[in-house]
Amino acid sequence: MRGEITFEDVWFEYRPGKPVLKGLSFHVEPGERVAIVGPPGSGKSTIFKLLLRFYDYQKGRILIDGIEIKKIKPESLRKHIGYVPQEPFIFNRSIKENIALGNPDASLEEVVEAAKIAKIHDFIASLPKGYDTLVGERGVTLSGGQRQRLAIARALVAKPKILLLDDPASNLDAETEKRLVEDLKEILEGRTALIVTQRPSLLALADRIIVVVDGRVVEEGTLEELLARKGEFYRLYKEAWR
Ligand SMILES: Nc1ncnc2c1ncn2[C@@H]1O[C@H](COP(=O)(O)OP(=O)(O)OP(=O)(O)O)[C@@H](O)[C@H]1O
Ligand SMILES: [Mg+2]
Repeated sequence: MRGEITFEDVWFEYRPGKPVLKGLSFHVEPGERVAIVGPPGSGKSTIFKLLLRFYDYQKGRILIDGIEIKKIKPESLRKHIGYVPQEPFIFNRSIKENIALGNPDASLEEVVEAAKIAKIHDFIASLPKGYDTLVGERGVTLSGGQRQRLAIARALVAKPKILLLDDPASNLDAETEKRLVEDLKEILEGRTALIVTQRPSLLALADRIIVVVDGRVVEEGTLEELLARKGEFYRLYKEAWR
């Protein structure tokens, strides 16, 4: 996989007669980092759910490396696309099992490698039971930042060419967000990344920003271009740059 993503006039509805994506189109080159911004309910998370084939679109096409995803098995897609959902679920299992969910065939070495890239290895190694430590009710309680890192390690364990991050800084304090942004530079190395966010620090990481309003791309460009254009993006987020 090279990691090229194309949405061509994609229409999608969860419920009949209530379209959520209404002719959504955009293109992402392999290795590009693209931020997706837009108001709540505009369809940002839905874009990820379609890419992973949790749902199939009704009209238009989604292509990865030029192949329509309806021709690709969901399991195969999910193996090549790392996904950090808006609210990552952490199971009451060991840390190793929680990370290996991203690839049940992963060896301990691969789990450790993913944890190192996600910068949570040192914390895990400091626990008396290390990767066998149970998380949740019967084990250690993780902070918001640690849960986020665990979810990132899970998304990385299959060494995906494409990484989808859905609002990764939403539950983080300013200091933890700063560290995440710093580490993401390395995490995103050599991968195509789509990042739903409205945090200025994360937008600054993106090569390009696409603005989704009511299921359509209404604007796209670099941060500088969008701020200078004084259009929809500027209207929605100008407060953040005051
Ligand atoms: N499983 C579902 N069944 C029915 N409607 C859904 C479902 N998931 C999302 N929707 C609706 O689809 C629309 C788009 O949802 P989506 O989660 O993609 O928005 P979003 O842009 O990610 O919003 P947010 O910024 O709040 O995360 C919303 O109106 C939402 O209520
Ligand atoms: Mg969402």
